[in-house]
Amino acid sequence: MKKPTSEVSAPQALGRPLPPRFFMMPRDIGLFLKSARTDATILRLRATLGARAAFEAVYSRWNDPWVAASPRYRYQRRKYEQVVGMLSGRHYRRALDLGCGLGLLSQLLAPQVDELLGLDIADAAIERARQLAAHLSNFRFEQADIFDLPKTLDHGFDLVLLADTLYYLSPLDDETLKQLAVRAADLLVPGGMCVLVNHYFFAADSDSRLSRRIHRAFSSSHRLLLTSEHRKPFFLASLLTEHSSRSSPVLDQGIEGRAV
Ligand SMILES: C[S@@+](CC[C@H](N)C(=O)[O-])C[C@H]1O[C@@H](n2cnc3c(N)ncnc32)[C@H](O)[C@@H]1O
Repeated sequence: MKKPTSEVSAPQALGRPLPPRFFMMPRDIGLFLKSARTDATILRLRATLGARAAFEAVYSRWNDPWVAASPRYRYQRRKYEQVVGMLSGRHYRRALDLGCGLGLLSQLLAPQVDELLGLDIADAAIERARQLAAHLSNFRFEQADIFDLPKTLDHGFDLVLLADTLYYLSPLDDETLKQLAVRAADLLVPGGMCVLVNHYFFAADSDSRLSRRIHRAFSSSHRLLLTSEHRKPFFLASLLTEHSSRSSPVLDQGIEGRAV
């Protein structure tokens, strides 16, 4: 296996907000190509080694498999900023980032959360997330599989993030998605918020259709209420509220958001 490249460093990951110009540059195409390379490697390895080993392998081969932290590409950083923007003006006591990767989205939320727990299937991701967030004493990162989360986490969070994670799960049939939506709701305190983010290119491509299916499963869950949906280049974000305690949801009208 190749020696990991060192594309990530804490100062890069914590860099200043990007100037509000273009959401991406032509060179961001390189990011999509590298991400596609990572995704293809995961698919290949998962078939023989299983999911956990496949994700460990890509994090061992490339420090930053989806080049989320590289200052060379602006797309990922811009996406994280837009998602955080959708949550602006709110404060959260306990946030949970499921499939946190390097924890970069989590880090941008630091001013808005009292505590954050990041979970990822790959130990290598968790190790790096810990290093990058070493200055944040209220952040904790642990290895865990979304399919096997301890019940002790239930009803413990007022914010659950699921960013670009669910489409990596297998199997992902409608029944599994339904159960995942209920599991996400179980993690929330009554009225807590679940933020679902998945890439979305064009209505017709297969990845976007999968994202659409994921978001539809969550928004049609009896345990979650869709409060706003945001379609951006090139991702889809849904803000959902735990349903049991909300008789009259507060409607969100996010940045270009569609209140529902
Ligand atoms: C594309 S990365 C997204 C990372 C992060 N959410 C972000 O937006 O930067 C997908 C992450 O999901 C994690 N993952 C995949 N399957 C998982 C599972 N079953 N349980 C927990 N994490 C998982 C991978 O290890 C990887 O870090």
